[in-house]
Amino acid sequence: MTHPITLTINGVAHPIEVEPRALLVHVLRDDLNLTGTHIGCDTSQCGACTVLIEGQSVKSCTVLAVQADGQAITTIEGLGSADRLHPLQAAFWEKHGLQCGFCTPGIIMMATDLLATNPDTTEAQIRHALEGNLCRCTGYQNIVAAIQAAAATMRATRQQARAAESPAAQSPVGQPAAAGV
Ligand code: FES
Ligand code: FES
Repeated sequence: MTHPITLTINGVAHPIEVEPRALLVHVLRDDLNLTGTHIGCDTSQCGACTVLIEGQSVKSCTVLAVQADGQAITTIEGLGSADRLHPLQAAFWEKHGLQCGFCTPGIIMMATDLLATNPDTTEAQIRHALEGNLCRCTGYQNIVAAIQAAAATMRATRQQARAAESPAAQSPVGQPAAAGV
């Protein structure tokens, strides 16, 4: 027997029939073909299946799809695009934060939540947050460096946006922006 639910994934509503026992990770991968969310263990150990539910990072192998009914879900496919990478994706590339890449989507989704809730996160806080995400390749050093680099990029972007919005940055009406030029 199946149950009708609607999952809003990366901004798109997906009405779907699921078995009550179906895990969210299996529905994402098998029914909706969103295979960027990985399965490493199926027992809530590895974090490869991490997605955002209402902005909060969650291991999708620990959630029944019916529990996510009506909720907004973000997967790695919704974070950036090939020609417009999210700062975390760009930083993982630039800092060599991955080798085989199996753990990477889950870690990036976890870090998305981390930087949203704590933009000035410290190295110790990043390492603590990584406790739920296993990587068998990298030794974690470059992952930490990538998250720190992304945090710096996102801080700079916010500062630029604030400067652009502040009245002091606006030129007076009818005046050139840079006097004497
Ligand atoms: S597959 Fe979900 S934690 Fe490993
Ligand atoms: S890069 Fe291979 S498991 Fe992390």
